[in-house]
Amino acid sequence: MFATNSGTKSMNRKILNIVVNGESHQVLIEPHWTLLQVLRNEIGMMGTKENCLEAECGVCTVLLDGKAINSCILLAGQVEGCSITTIEGIGDPEHLHPLQEAFIECGAVQCGYCIPGMILTAKSFLDENPGCRPSRDEIREAIAGTLCRCTGYRKIIDAVATAADRIALSGAKQ
Ligand code: FES
Ligand code: FES
Repeated sequence: MFATNSGTKSMNRKILNIVVNGESHQVLIEPHWTLLQVLRNEIGMMGTKENCLEAECGVCTVLLDGKAINSCILLAGQVEGCSITTIEGIGDPEHLHPLQEAFIECGAVQCGYCIPGMILTAKSFLDENPGCRPSRDEIREAIAGTLCRCTGYRKIIDAVATAADRIALSGAKQ
């Protein structure tokens, strides 16, 4: 029998098969659980943040088959067989993603709560536009769904522009 970390018991539980950061998982879920709940409570991906729970702030953003989505409003049962990337899946302290490097270099992180969602949103945008060197307005538009209470966005836009330049120059998808 499968156990859930939440310890809830229901006749409606079902097994969800998902790949998170390249690793396959089978999770016993309740029908009402969101992807955010599964990622944080069952798989332990705490880099995915929770806040508004109504698709307003973007801190819960993950990549679903490469596209940025708000995991707080997506039922886990809808992602059967899908591949999810969280912030833990795009770099580590020894091998940072260019976006992570640029956020550090540009001083774009204050409290940090929005940053996983911000970086994944920017990654989705850059991946969808390979080789692009977006204008500041294009970056502002791309990250508009992710709110930051701390930075005023200027340094975040600097960071995304810096990373986009480096990725474009390297000619590689990161
Ligand atoms: S917690 Fe999902 S958008 Fe705010
Ligand atoms: S760095 Fe604090 S909310 Fe963005």
